[in-house]
Amino acid sequence: MESYEINLKNANPTIENTFLTWNMQKNWNPIKITDANGVYFTDSYGKSYLDMSSQLMCSNLGHGNKRIINSIKNQAEKLAFIAPSFDTDIREEVSGKLRTVLPDNLTKYFYGTSGTEANEAAIKIARMYMAKEHKNKIISFYNSYHGSTLGSLQLTGDYRRKLTDSYHSASGFLKVAPPSCYHCPFNLKYPECNMACLNNIEYTIKNEGNIAAIIIEPVTGTNGVVIPPEGFLHELRRITEENNVLLIADEVMTGFCRTGEWFAVNHWKIKPDILTTAKGITGAYAPLSLTAVDKKISDFFNDNIFAHGHTYEAHPLVLAAASAAIDEYKDKNILENVRKLSKLFSGRLNELREKHISVGDVRSIGLFGAVELVKDRNNKTPFNTSDDKIEGKPMIVNKIAKYAMEHGVYLNTWLSHFIVAPPLIINEDELNSGFDVIDDALKISDMEIKI
Ligand SMILES: Cc1ncc(COP(=O)(O)O)c(C=O)c1O
Repeated sequence: MESYEINLKNANPTIENTFLTWNMQKNWNPIKITDANGVYFTDSYGKSYLDMSSQLMCSNLGHGNKRIINSIKNQAEKLAFIAPSFDTDIREEVSGKLRTVLPDNLTKYFYGTSGTEANEAAIKIARMYMAKEHKNKIISFYNSYHGSTLGSLQLTGDYRRKLTDSYHSASGFLKVAPPSCYHCPFNLKYPECNMACLNNIEYTIKNEGNIAAIIIEPVTGTNGVVIPPEGFLHELRRITEENNVLLIADEVMTGFCRTGEWFAVNHWKIKPDILTTAKGITGAYAPLSLTAVDKKISDFFNDNIFAHGHTYEAHPLVLAAASAAIDEYKDKNILENVRKLSKLFSGRLNELREKHISVGDVRSIGLFGAVELVKDRNNKTPFNTSDDKIEGKPMIVNKIAKYAMEHGVYLNTWLSHFIVAPPLIINEDELNSGFDVIDDALKISDMEIKI
């Protein structure tokens, strides 16, 4: 008893008793955060940080938003929980508001609590709907992330799937080469390539014969803010329609104004059959996700069982956050702010590429950007790969993020790139001050090349 108490005194229960996700546990020494307001958050020593990545690209409305906080509080007092088979005011309210912002063909909604769950629901819905045609396979891209559970991880193309493939794999999931022009899988150049990646998708669909759906991030998120070339999504929509394949748009990261449209598919006027979203739907004030389907799919379930559900589907507290968040996006003209700042944003990113020898490419749309670091611009050699991460080797992006944190700026890093995606309420001065620190931090990767 005594020794247990002594142990507790010395130990930090966060580190001792909880997991750091997607990482080895041994060197975890997290900064303790005690407060957050607007585009800043503060640690237990009182130091504040400019949030240049909206945490996990989700705090779109910044921190400490009173309207959303009060909406959750009021809902907690009124009705904190009721089984999902009941109707509630808040469910009516949010479902009505979503109709005003989603692509107009998406009229029926399933509420979950994470992007992962939204995609799990999408896979099941697509397969249930396509069962009559004996189609069950789902195509996704090699540079994608769609979630961490059995199905959604099988959709995922990036190294996180490989980490668990040996004990976690399932059948019916295929990957294809993505429309990633900087690292073209076919070593071709747009537009002379005639979008060989599209031909490959069409070829796969026709030769497999039983493809139920293809799931895409309309703009690839974590894996580098990869924007498809002009014409790609239009043609993909045509191919899926001609071959009776459902198109699922995973807008978990790109939804809710991040790219300068309510949803990224709007840039190309594409109407997916199913759209999934999460993160920005509540500005990350509460865990909510959405799987939205069109009328043909919703009609199908009038006479077929919707074989899916969760205890916390349409949870009132979480819906209360979404209701207030949607009002905030509209009343604060968030789209306008994103569109206005996107020129400054892409301008500052381009300056980084011009100034720093270690920056191979920058890409952005709206307030969603990536800085890709290379050892050698000609060969586009990354500083680090997924193998380095798996083996626990030091990563250059972590050195850059550490420097940025020391200088009061938070950045979300990946393998050889980092994501710049500040809260969408940010102003010009704040944005410039964040970029100034990033500019300084990139001397670290430049130095590695000169040595
Ligand atoms: C495109 C995309 N889909 C799905 C997910 C999974 O969402 P969650 O982490 O909420 O389960 C993510 C998470 O980053 C994502 O970026």
